Amino acid sequence: MNPKQAAAERAVEYIQDGMIVGLGTGSTAAYAISALSARILSEGLEITCIPTSRATAESARAMNIPLSDWDTVRKLDLTIDGADEVDPQFRLIKGGGGALLREKIVASATEHQIIVVDDHKLKAALGVFPLPVAVVPFGWQATRDRLEYLLSAPVTPRKTPNGDIFISDDSLYVLDVHFGGPLPDPDALTARIKTITGVVETGLFVGLCHRVIVGHPDGATSEAS
Ligand code: A5P
Repeated sequence: MNPKQAAAERAVEYIQDGMIVGLGTGSTAAYAISALSARILSEGLEITCIPTSRATAESARAMNIPLSDWDTVRKLDLTIDGADEVDPQFRLIKGGGGALLREKIVASATEHQIIVVDDHKLKAALGVFPLPVAVVPFGWQATRDRLEYLLSAPVTPRKTPNGDIFISDDSLYVLDVHFGGPLPDPDALTARIKTITGVVETGLFVGLCHRVIVGHPDGATSEAS
C-alpha cells in the first residue's frame, strides 16, 4: 500500500461516533477522506466535519460525508491533515497546497490534531521546503520586498501550473520564502513575520500537532504523540 494511504487509513481509526472532525487538504488527507467515507458507509458512523478548503469540501460532499460550519461548531474533536515537513518537536511546514490559513484556523480549534505523512516529510530541521506566507493581494510586491529584507531570503509569489498568480480560497496570495536550510528560530518566526503589514498567516505550525502517523514504503505505519 502507498505510504500516504497507509498513514491516512491508520489515522481514520481514531475517529469515533459523535465526533466533530476536521478534514485536511492535499493528497494524503484525500486518502483519509476516502477511508472515512468507507467507515461511514460500513459502520453508520455519525459524525460531522469541517473542511480546510473548498477542494476538500467538494470531495467530502461527493462522498456523502456530512459537513458543518462555524455557525454551529466552535471546537473540533479531531483533525487529520498532511504536512510538507515535520520536525522532531512536531513543528510543521504546511501550505504546499495553499490552504494554510484555513488549515491553521481548524488546527487551532482542534482538541487532537493528527498529521499524516510519508517518511520523506520527516526532517531534523524545517526549512528546505519553502515556507508559505498568505498575504493580502493589495501591495503584495511591497510585502514581498519587506519579507525578503526581514528574512534575508528570496521570496516568490506562488503560481498556478498555467503561470497565473495563485489565489487562495480566501482570495489571498501565497508568497514562498526560500530559506533553503534550517528556519531561524522557528518558535518565534511566525510572530516576526506577522509584524509586516499585509501578512495574514504563515504555514509554520508550532504547538498545533498532537500525533504524527508516518507511512513507510512497505505499507507499515509508525506513530508518536
Ligand atoms: C495543503 O495546503 C498542505 O498543507 C498539505 O497538507 C501539504 O502540502 C501536504 O500535501 P500532500 O499530502 O499532498 O503531500
